[in-house]
Amino acid sequence: MNLSLHEKNALVCGSTQGIGFAIAKELALLGANCILMARNKESLQTALAQLHQEGTQKHEILCADFSDTNAVKTIVNELASNKTIHILINNTGGPPAGKITDAKDSDFLSALNLHLINNHNLATAVLEGMKQSNYGRIVNIVSTSVKIPLPNLGVSNTTRAAVAAWAKTLANEVAVNGITVNNVLPGATSTVRLSSIIENKSNKTGAEIKTVEAEMLHEIPMRRFGLAEEIAAMAAFLTTPAAAYITGQSICVDGGRTGSI
Ligand SMILES: NC(=O)c1ccc[n+]([C@@H]2O[C@H](COP(=O)([O-])OP(=O)(O)OC[C@H]3O[C@@H](n4cnc5c(N)ncnc54)[C@H](OP(=O)(O)O)[C@@H]3O)[C@@H](O)[C@H]2O)c1
Repeated sequence: MNLSLHEKNALVCGSTQGIGFAIAKELALLGANCILMARNKESLQTALAQLHQEGTQKHEILCADFSDTNAVKTIVNELASNKTIHILINNTGGPPAGKITDAKDSDFLSALNLHLINNHNLATAVLEGMKQSNYGRIVNIVSTSVKIPLPNLGVSNTTRAAVAAWAKTLANEVAVNGITVNNVLPGATSTVRLSSIIENKSNKTGAEIKTVEAEMLHEIPMRRFGLAEEIAAMAAFLTTPAAAYITGQSICVDGGRTGSI
């Protein structure tokens, strides 16, 4: 099985912590040159220093706030005009929790900009290079809510469905060029994002953090939260030569939580 990413350039978004950082670490181990992208320069430098580096392998950082879609577009267009990006990991912070009946127009618009519009602009910027180099892998970090909407994540559920539909459509359009587009759907994964979801639930219901955690664990057949590394393993595999024939898929990595076949 060919898992080598030697001489491949990977743009990994939202990669200073959590799932994005874990993916960057895996891609670096497989030989890729990683470009880490997030808002905080110091955190980016700290993350960069922890990536595996061997031989001619070279990693770099790019500062960008995904809430400014035009700035992200300008930055990625400039990057793509200077180097071929063979691998794109679309990932950023998740939309705030809350009931859909409490959601405002602006909540939907910001979440769609953050996820759908950035994903689209990032992908379209790197596609030409992928076509020219005969290698392209786009992996979107979404959520199991693509399969079954999750309670108290109204705006997130809606946005994730839009991203999944966009990804499937894109996958079909670029498959002829050998470029794959897939979604990794994490279940409850131990990161800062999960802690904030648990805290939000505890504040809303008055239940203790431990009780909220126990309720969440009860819904997971494996009775434990996932590790960022376990989500990253799937994402990394999808970027390898070995995964060339997998496209247009939404793959749950959730300890069995999602109740669909
Ligand atoms: N953890 C879970 O249980 C879980 C489950 C299902 C889905 N997900 C989804 O998976 C994705 C990653 O989750 P995670 O748990 O790894 O999140 P996380 O720990 O909060 O990490 C988010 C990453 O994105 C960056 N980021 C956040 N907002 C940004 C912005 N406006 N512009 C640029 N970068 C930004 C952060 O870096 P900076 O702060 O330095 O910018 C950080 O590196 C999210 O969409 C999340 O909703 C997570």
